[in-house]
Amino acid sequence: MMSFKSYFFQASIVQMLLFMIMTPSLARLNVQVSSGEINGICSKTLNPSYCVKLLKSTPGTATADLKSLAKIILDLARSNATKTLNQIHSLIPKTTDPKLKESYRSCSEHYDNAIGDLNKAESDFKQGDYFGMNIQASGALDAAGDCDDETEGLPASPSLIKGNQDLKNFCGIILVVANRLKGSN
Ligand SMILES: *[C@@H]1O[C@H](CO)[C@@H](O)[C@H](O)[C@H]1NC(C)=O
Repeated sequence: MMSFKSYFFQASIVQMLLFMIMTPSLARLNVQVSSGEINGICSKTLNPSYCVKLLKSTPGTATADLKSLAKIILDLARSNATKTLNQIHSLIPKTTDPKLKESYRSCSEHYDNAIGDLNKAESDFKQGDYFGMNIQASGALDAAGDCDDETEGLPASPSLIKGNQDLKNFCGIILVVANRLKGSN
């Protein structure tokens, strides 16, 4: 007959095994974006070092799961593009070169479109439409490229050139996150 002690011992082994089997699947229910995962996401973006620097310096990303991270980066991209648009609005009246002035006007339209796309990306995200989120982020990325084209060969403000790069980098991160969300759908 099995002694109470050995019964207890066997039961705790069973418990321990169950615990070891369950823990990884429990962890998966609320996937935290570890710093390894930030590196994994960023390695697929246009500018990995920019991405790592941005995500590691943004409050909340360290404890965020993939969906919270998506929300953080969508909000950041929109507020960043809005600030760049405000800079463009203040550049227009100060600019006397007619070609440059015209290019700023066109860029302000491209930024309006980009911000519209980012808003749609966020509502697609909220509805779980990660494919739509991806399409809209590509649209915003294209808008930054369009503004680059408008200012090509003109003495454009460095802040606008940086703004375009920032928008492209943000959109690149959103694209990777949307793809990951699609995968875990
Ligand atoms: C946009 O974000 C980047 C990266 O954090 C930052 O360097 C830049 O100053 C921001 N743009 C504006 C206009 O605030």
